Amino acid sequence: MGLLSRIFPKKELTIEPIDLSFLRNDIHSHLIPGIDDGSPEMETTIMLLKKFIDLGYKKVITTPHIMSDYYKNTPEIILSGLDKVKAEIIKNNLSIEIEAAAEYNLEPEFEDLLEKNNLLTFGSEKYLLFELSFFDEPPRLNEIIWKMREKGVSPVLAHVERYVYWHRDYDKIEEMINRGVKLQLNIGSITGAYGPEVKKVADRLINDKVIDFIGSDCHHEQHLEMISHASRLPIFHSLVQQDQILNKSL
Ligand SMILES: [Fe+2]
Repeated sequence: MGLLSRIFPKKELTIEPIDLSFLRNDIHSHLIPGIDDGSPEMETTIMLLKKFIDLGYKKVITTPHIMSDYYKNTPEIILSGLDKVKAEIIKNNLSIEIEAAAEYNLEPEFEDLLEKNNLLTFGSEKYLLFELSFFDEPPRLNEIIWKMREKGVSPVLAHVERYVYWHRDYDKIEEMINRGVKLQLNIGSITGAYGPEVKKVADRLINDKVIDFIGSDCHHEQHLEMISHASRLPIFHSLVQQDQILNKSL
C-alpha cells in the first residue's frame, strides 16, 4: 500500500480545489525548529512555509507544544525561535507572515501558568489554544476553562474531533460550546487520515456549523498533503465558506 493510500484510505467524490487564500490564516502548527515534535530544523521549516504559500495561506500562527513532561517550552524559548524563523523568511524572500502562540496541554502545571498569567495567545480576543489527553478526559476540565475565561483569555480546543472518549458522548462537545470554548478542527480529519470515527465526528461538527477555527496541525509535509487532498472535497468547501469561521478575522 502506497503512502498516500495509507493517508487517504477512502475514495471520495472530489471537485476542483478550493482557493485557500479565502481562509488566509492557519492557526495551529509546529514550525519553530527543534523545540517540539514538529519541524526538526530550519531547512524543513522553510520548505514547509513555501508549501503553505503554494496552498494560498497569507499568515501562519505557529503553536509549539507546551507540555510539562516532554516539551518544557516557555514564551521566551518560543519567541526567540520565532525571531530566527522571521529572519530566515526575510533572507529567503518568502511572502508569508508568521506569528507564534502555543498549544497548551491541559495538565496541573497549566494552572500554574494561568495563575502567573504567563501565556502566549493570538488575536485581539486573546485566543488560547489548548489540547486534552488523548486517553482520558482530564480532571478539573470545567474549572480550568472557567479560570481561563476569568483571566480574560478565550479558550480554543485543539482538534476537538480527535478525543475518542467523546465520540459516543457528543453532549460533552456541546457542553464545551456552552462554556464559551471555541472549537478547532484539523483539516486532516476530513480526509479520514485519523480514522473513520474521527472523520464521522468531524463531518457532524461541520454539518452542525460549530467549528470556529480550521487548523493544519502541521508537524511535517504529510499534513500539508492532507490539505491538498481536503481542498478537493465538497465538505471542506462547505466548511471554509461557513460564516462563523474565524481564521480570516486574524
Ligand atoms: Fe498540534
